[in-house]
Amino acid sequence: MTDNASQTDLSTTTVAVIGAGNMGGPVVRAMLAAGTDPQHVRIVNSSPASSERAAAELGVTAAADRAAAVDGADVVVLGVKPYQILDLLAEIGDGLAEGAVVVSLAAGTTLAQMQEALPADTAVERAMPSVPISVGEGAVGLMRGDAVTDAQHDLVHALFSCAGVSVDITEGQVHAFIGTAGSLVAIVFSLMEAMIDEGVREGLKRDLATELVQQTVRGATGLLRESGQHVAVARGTVTSPGGTTVEGLAEFERRGGRAAIASAMQAAADRSKEMAGD
Ligand SMILES: NC(=O)c1ccc[n+]([C@@H]2O[C@H](COP(=O)([O-])OP(=O)(O)OC[C@H]3O[C@@H](n4cnc5c(N)ncnc54)[C@H](OP(=O)(O)O)[C@@H]3O)[C@@H](O)[C@H]2O)c1
Repeated sequence: MTDNASQTDLSTTTVAVIGAGNMGGPVVRAMLAAGTDPQHVRIVNSSPASSERAAAELGVTAAADRAAAVDGADVVVLGVKPYQILDLLAEIGDGLAEGAVVVSLAAGTTLAQMQEALPADTAVERAMPSVPISVGEGAVGLMRGDAVTDAQHDLVHALFSCAGVSVDITEGQVHAFIGTAGSLVAIVFSLMEAMIDEGVREGLKRDLATELVQQTVRGATGLLRESGQHVAVARGTVTSPGGTTVEGLAEFERRGGRAAIASAMQAAADRSKEMAGD
């Protein structure tokens, strides 16, 4: 985050979120954690009932429709599916407030495509978030459009300042970002599920196996962060000759564990490229 972003006061910022679903919801939570006033956050989903339900769950306001949500908003976040983005921009473009920034969460729709669907010189950004931003432990890659001013970019950074890690990336890096953060979350969940199931198979109660796996993943991350150690050095410190860990690691390598993880990340990045037509 930039210094200016950390000094940005969000208490009067009005945010419209069109599509507060699996990703739009966590984005709203992160923006509230950053200091946005819930009364200034309006959301709209595909029906009034859905908007009301999501607004009640998130503690923000439901807008009557998309035009009402966008009216006067400083920041308009698009949390709909990628195939909906361009039609949505064509619909809301003329209703955007002067100086508004449009932030799309969509994979596969580029800044150039978005810019083309909007009135000239509209400020457009892309944000690629991962789900744990809702608990302040996610990652957000921000891609800045040409028409975005420094003040607008600082505002977007400030909105994501409590999301976890937020960094500027290029559109060329977004595919790697998806493989290494956005989609990786689900791969980590899947790995953790396998670890918990095996702990149960080895005789632990599911609650205990879950607690141990969560603590182990958290502990490994905390240790690397605090010590600054290279990950291979940290692994070496828990690998004594002829011991249990080296035996487990050898089996992991023989079974192609590392290759399977790399392939999964590459597949996610490749799919992102395919969606973007790159
Ligand atoms: N999920 C992730 O981990 C993730 C990560 C990074 C980026 N993204 C991006 O986030 C975007 C949303 O994905 P998602 O997984 O959050 O999908 P989702 O859970 O299906 O959410 C989509 C939201 O859009 C709303 N919506 C649909 N049509 C609408 C319309 N015409 N007007 C207003 N709202 C409308 C839906 O409302 P209803 O519930 O009423 O149908 C829903 O709240 C995608 O572009 C995706 O590429 C997702």
